[in-house]
Amino acid sequence: MDKKTFYITTPIYYPSGNWHIGHCYTTVVCDAFARFNRMLGKDVFFLTGTDEHGQKIEKKAQEKGLTPMEFINPLVDELKEIWRLLDVSYDKFIRTTDDYHVKSVQKIFEKLYEKGEIYKSEYEGLYCAPCESFWTETQLVDGKCPDCGREVQKAKEESYFFRLSKYADKIIELYENNKEFLQPKSRVNEMINNFIKNDTGLQDLCVSRTTIKWGVPVTFDKKHTVYVWIDALSNYITALGYGSEDDSLYKKYWPVDLHLTGKEIIRFHAIIWPAILMALGEPVPTQVYGHGWLLIGGDKLSKSKQDKVGAELTDPLKLVQRYGSDAIRYFLLREIPFGNDGVYTNESLLTRINSDLANIYGNLVSRTTAMINKYFGKLPSGKIANELDKELIDMATSLFDKVQEKMDQINVPEALNEIFKVLSRANKYIDETEPWKLAKDETQKARLGEVLYNLSEVIRICSLILTPFITQMPKKALEMFGLDDKVNIQEVKTYGILKEGITVSTGVLFPRIDMTEEIKKMNEIAAQKQAQKQETKQKEDVKEEISIDDFFKTELKVAEIIACEKVAKSKKLLKSTLKVGEETRQVVSGLAEYYTPEQMVGKKVILVANLKPAKLCGELSQGMLLCAEKDGKVCLITPEQDMPSGSTVR
Ligand code: MSP
Repeated sequence: MDKKTFYITTPIYYPSGNWHIGHCYTTVVCDAFARFNRMLGKDVFFLTGTDEHGQKIEKKAQEKGLTPMEFINPLVDELKEIWRLLDVSYDKFIRTTDDYHVKSVQKIFEKLYEKGEIYKSEYEGLYCAPCESFWTETQLVDGKCPDCGREVQKAKEESYFFRLSKYADKIIELYENNKEFLQPKSRVNEMINNFIKNDTGLQDLCVSRTTIKWGVPVTFDKKHTVYVWIDALSNYITALGYGSEDDSLYKKYWPVDLHLTGKEIIRFHAIIWPAILMALGEPVPTQVYGHGWLLIGGDKLSKSKQDKVGAELTDPLKLVQRYGSDAIRYFLLREIPFGNDGVYTNESLLTRINSDLANIYGNLVSRTTAMINKYFGKLPSGKIANELDKELIDMATSLFDKVQEKMDQINVPEALNEIFKVLSRANKYIDETEPWKLAKDETQKARLGEVLYNLSEVIRICSLILTPFITQMPKKALEMFGLDDKVNIQEVKTYGILKEGITVSTGVLFPRIDMTEEIKKMNEIAAQKQAQKQETKQKEDVKEEISIDDFFKTELKVAEIIACEKVAKSKKLLKSTLKVGEETRQVVSGLAEYYTPEQMVGKKVILVANLKPAKLCGELSQGMLLCAEKDGKVCLITPEQDMPSGSTVR
């Protein structure tokens, strides 16, 4: 028997900076599934939310002089506003700072500790602070974090560990016994080869921190904070009341039907999360799906990439305000081949809007309703009179099953493609039947009525089937025929539901956008923004005035470089030995990209001699060399004439 409930989740989002259109992808796809399953009559629970703890957020708030909550709250409000504008029909929005979540996470941690699934030890590893992930040497790409490409640092601390290694075989068994668990199928090998059966095998997982304060405290060892993944992943069950007095939602909806996530966090959902659930003795998710990314200029659209390309192109609030939610939803659902990456450009967005929404769907509705009003004033009666009619109507009445099949395969772009095939066929039917010619011949009046009635039925069926995907145009189209957007599955499979004689209103559903004009406008806005940014940067670069006394606090000396070598383990640093009068000093400088050690030796340079000594990559640095810099070009400052080392510079 088919399950009556359907539980679907998005990942919970980090409120750590500006939102971009890439963030909307997972949520809009989940919304289409939630709405589609509601249409099937299922009892749906759709969960989304925010992942609010951790070092990154703690740091960002600090930088802005705010408490973490003061920093997070406006971002969470903005995310909710984006979901409202995009018509996202979530049933619950969880925040990991919610009291009930914090309490349940503490219980989960205690339970795992009591069962011996968590133990205390010491962690040493390579840590990527922005991603809050520890990596092994072999997982690094070019010595950097494999997720974000940034530098990692060695880190060591007392930590609690989850016995993840114990679950390696059980996870492989899960993949083998349940072929639907992890999708698309290619992700199974990726998990096994890269994480479970890699050189180190599946390692126990560090699940607490003593260095991060912004998180859920471990109840039995207060200096520890629950480290990100147990806190974040548990949201999927704490939102249902797991570990609380009322766990009725948990009993009703768990196990989840679909965890939809981006491919970079699939390993947390397909390895760590099922292992945690197994350790708790709870059922594992039914399915985890790792989708691809929205790319911009060849890279994943991310917060840092957004800073480069500009918010006009990537800020969901701005985009929805400019083009409407249907356009953005449709683009996200249609343009990105599901499971693969898809490219986002302003042109591709506009092309989708024009070619599909305006030309195919909008045009069909406005032409049909205008002709009904012009030739009849009311909806004429109709019937399937010939092969041409039959072909069109068969396509429409069998559409729902085709769309359902694609949705069962988790292939949203293909589901939409099926709908647009029927809409395109209907436009072709207008060209083939030529209603404007029929209208000129009084003996063809009945035939003209049949054609327009058949087109109306196609619009009714397609609009209803479109409602889980785009939410506004179909509603408008249905209202033109006096209908609402409530779907009765039987009626979308049946011909002849519209009643003869009803009033039909007309109008433009989706105006065509002038591509050339619009792209020109967008480029102008982007250029303006870029210029503004440049101006602000230049202003920031101008330092405030200082007195001559301030300047004389700096002791500048001519020094001679007598030896120089590269600093081991660093691509950027050079270690120079300097003669400053009678004195010898060591200075470490970030010049390896601009000078070889050989080029450095023999140069007379200017040394900031009274700078506090510091250690760089373990090497003592007793001062700093003056350099000139512009647009990535760097050169050392040297005296214009030969001066003895130790000379004063002022
Ligand atoms: N907080 C974690 C998830 C914890 S789930 C228990 C996280 N947050 S995130 O804000 O960085 O990302 C959330 C989702 O947005 C991920 O599924 C991610 O793949 C998705 N996307 C972010 N940028 C994206 C694109 N450019 N394209 C498609 N999806 C993208 O990870």
